[in-house]
Amino acid sequence: MKGVIFNVVEDVVTEALSADAWDDVVERSGATGAYTSLGSYPDAELGKLVVAISEAADMPMPDVLRLAGKVGFKHLVGRAPHLVEGMSDWQTVIASLDDIIHPEVKKIYPDAEAPGFAVERNGDELMVTYTSSRGLCGLADGLMLGNGTWFDVELEVEHVSCVHTGDEACVMRVSEMA
Ligand code: HEM
Repeated sequence: MKGVIFNVVEDVVTEALSADAWDDVVERSGATGAYTSLGSYPDAELGKLVVAISEAADMPMPDVLRLAGKVGFKHLVGRAPHLVEGMSDWQTVIASLDDIIHPEVKKIYPDAEAPGFAVERNGDELMVTYTSSRGLCGLADGLMLGNGTWFDVELEVEHVSCVHTGDEACVMRVSEMA
């Protein structure tokens, strides 16, 4: 996983808890704790950090991933604002992930392995099929929530099916809160 994702996790822990909390998490996890945005680091290292955050914050792991995405979205975008420039709503961002945003990410980080997001519009909702060997649908869920916050909209993400419960794919229904 690219270092920029680790940088964003550090931003989130620092914002949601404190800078000291990040130092604690690094120590507790046994991770190196120093990441350059262009570097690549083992996925297992991200896993160790998530476990340590879950323990430090007394929060279940899926919630940690969701929070990392929700709070981290603005930090991620802040590192490459041109990627969403001119996109005027949350639907456009999600519908552009496969064709524009993640391909652009690959130009900045050539060895990035971005996940797939197949999107179908269903009235005002989006049905989003997430594909990745990493199984980070919790992070995807959170990033979509953070994308809503970016546009001042509160979104709801329902996991219609999930590889973690034995389904073949992760399908999420994304809609605005009533
Ligand atoms: C709603 C918007 C977005 C969603 C749902 C999303 C989702 C994800 C997820 C779940 C991953 C983890 C890797 C995986 O699951 O295989 C990921 C990776 C990544 N995303 Fe996105 N993303 C979004 C927007 C963005 C934006 C705006 C940027 C850049 C500014 C970005 C840059 C990256 C990078 C650098 C990676 C790391 C890939 C790697 O290390 O190989 N994403 N994205």
